[in-house]
Amino acid sequence: MATIKAAILGFGTVGQGIFHVLNEKREELRDKLGLELEVAKILVRDPSKERVPGTAHLLTDSIDDVLSVKGLQVVFEAIVNEEPSFTYLKKAVENKCHVITANKVMFAKRGLELQELAKQNGVFVGYEATTAGGVPVIKTMKNILLVNEVSSIQGILNGTTNFILTKMRSEGLSFDDALREAQALGYAEADPYNDISGQDAFKKLMILSSLAFGEQPNWADVEVIGIDCITSNQVADATEQGLRYRHVAEVEKHPDGTIYAKVAPMLVDKEHPLYPIDDVFNAVTMETNYIGTLTLIGPGAGMYPTASVMVEDYAEIIGKRAGFVVSI
Ligand code: NDP
Ligand code: HSE
Repeated sequence: MATIKAAILGFGTVGQGIFHVLNEKREELRDKLGLELEVAKILVRDPSKERVPGTAHLLTDSIDDVLSVKGLQVVFEAIVNEEPSFTYLKKAVENKCHVITANKVMFAKRGLELQELAKQNGVFVGYEATTAGGVPVIKTMKNILLVNEVSSIQGILNGTTNFILTKMRSEGLSFDDALREAQALGYAEADPYNDISGQDAFKKLMILSSLAFGEQPNWADVEVIGIDCITSNQVADATEQGLRYRHVAEVEKHPDGTIYAKVAPMLVDKEHPLYPIDDVFNAVTMETNYIGTLTLIGPGAGMYPTASVMVEDYAEIIGKRAGFVVSI
């Protein structure tokens, strides 16, 4: 049986999750795809740091070391920031590797470029994990967009902020204590300012805009307000009035072709579809011409939800290559 060689860039919450899921699902993946999988290298900043037992020999801090693996076919990417991620994935694609990324900062800005490059090199880019964690919003949109048009998208796209707002309301935690808990659970970004300032949700919204409309609004025109302005007193007042704070991202294409987008906290009442969405959950609602309203709800962050959709991307890409999965 042939073996697919893969590398993982980044070995924190998500990178380790990919490694565990690949190991746990090794036999099923082998049986379904007819291919073995070997993780041949793992890129980190500091290879001397103790991580998953039995992986020390795979660690390197050199992308050239990773890309020199003979027969490397798949690169999973779970590092942070636009660079060096884009440069690394560009090199991987030019080396004819499929790439599967969770990095929304890179993908929001360079995703269309990376996909074009992949097309020229005959490989695929999986990016389900960039947006809404374990919620398969990218796959769903790709499937419906063959026939449907999406006119607007609204939702909660950041798990950390929803977790913080939930804990402040339901357990009376302070903002800082709730954030610390989100960090300990692996939900928050390496720099949690990206979560609480709304920048993380904004990047995900831009990825959805590219997919739905083939373009993004001018970033400078998008109002982005985080949850760092919301106090415990405001949360308590809202609760008393039967309202809940939600951090809402929305994008819509107007009939004249302009795209409007906004990310901001919103007070919602019991009738609002986002009212019951608590904890680390995300929700994405799309308005479409044929289906009507379509909503997806699920965990928006965390090791296993995120890693599992990256392994789903792997199975889909490799399955398509083997000729029996059709939807990427
Ligand atoms: P972590 O901070 O837990 O891990 C990041 C990893 O990347 C670390 O192993 C780090 O190495 C490595 N790394 C960072 N920069 C470099 C670099 N320049 N060169 C080599 N290695 C590097 O982050 P997460 O796992 O939480 O997130 C990874 C990516 O996944 C991010 O882009 C994030 O936005 C995205 N994501 C995260 C989710 C989550 O729930 N956590 C969900 C969906 C997406 P070292 O350990 O040596 O420092
Ligand atoms: N920090 C992000 C969040 C991770 O909390 O939603 C998932 O993209």
